[in-house]
Amino acid sequence: MAVIGIMSAMHEELAAVLAHMPDEQRVSVAGRDFFVGHWHGHALVAVLSRIGKVAAATTATVLLERFGVDQLVFTGVAGGLGADVRVGDVVVATKCVQHDMDASPLFAPHEVPLYGRAFFDTDLPLSVQLAQASEAVLQHAEQHLGQAAMAEFALKAPQVHQGLVLSGDRFVSTSAESQALRQRFPAAMAVEMEGAAVAQVCFDFGVPFAALRTISDRADDTAHADFNQFIGAVASRYSLAILSGWLGQTRPVKA
Ligand code: ADE
Repeated sequence: MAVIGIMSAMHEELAAVLAHMPDEQRVSVAGRDFFVGHWHGHALVAVLSRIGKVAAATTATVLLERFGVDQLVFTGVAGGLGADVRVGDVVVATKCVQHDMDASPLFAPHEVPLYGRAFFDTDLPLSVQLAQASEAVLQHAEQHLGQAAMAEFALKAPQVHQGLVLSGDRFVSTSAESQALRQRFPAAMAVEMEGAAVAQVCFDFGVPFAALRTISDRADDTAHADFNQFIGAVASRYSLAILSGWLGQTRPVKA
């Protein structure tokens, strides 16, 4: 059976997934705990991604090389950059780029040296499945989050977006920086700290990759407010419901 790798950016997200993998076995590699088990009849390996591009790339490499995962799905939070990308929305990445990669003038700005490209595509069928599962959850957001959380974070009719996601080794927490990113990448939907690195590792191994991010902030001067509370009350509930919906709808594939 094909093995699915799930990389969660947050402890709460991973804990929610593990609560549905009663047979999980912990295997420690490179200081990380990988949880091998089953959910909805699929063979899974779930792991905390760790934060930042290098740490996430190491985690992804172990998932692919040691655990032989056949597809990799990343879940976490991100700062919204697109004009209509609001807190509580979900962004499913179609492309990823490292916004802090710059080897110019030797290479074009943002191009990853020796790859001849700046942008790494996510897997289309996998991303479509995750976007559909996200739509199904967000249409009934109140059912998943409860009225109190919807009110606390002022969530109204949350939306699913698909598009470009930026990654870099910095938490973007000023309006000046998010505005500069918008100018450099007008199509950018969101910014986070791992996706493009994991996309590059999956590209190297020829393994399908998809990433979904709940928008926790607008990458502006208030970006840090209520961050931990939001993760517990909104982001980890969304990722659990989306992953569960997706796996429940998808037949395990023969490897
Ligand atoms: N993850 C969540 N919000 C973020 C932000 N504003 N910048 C980078 N990564 C994030």
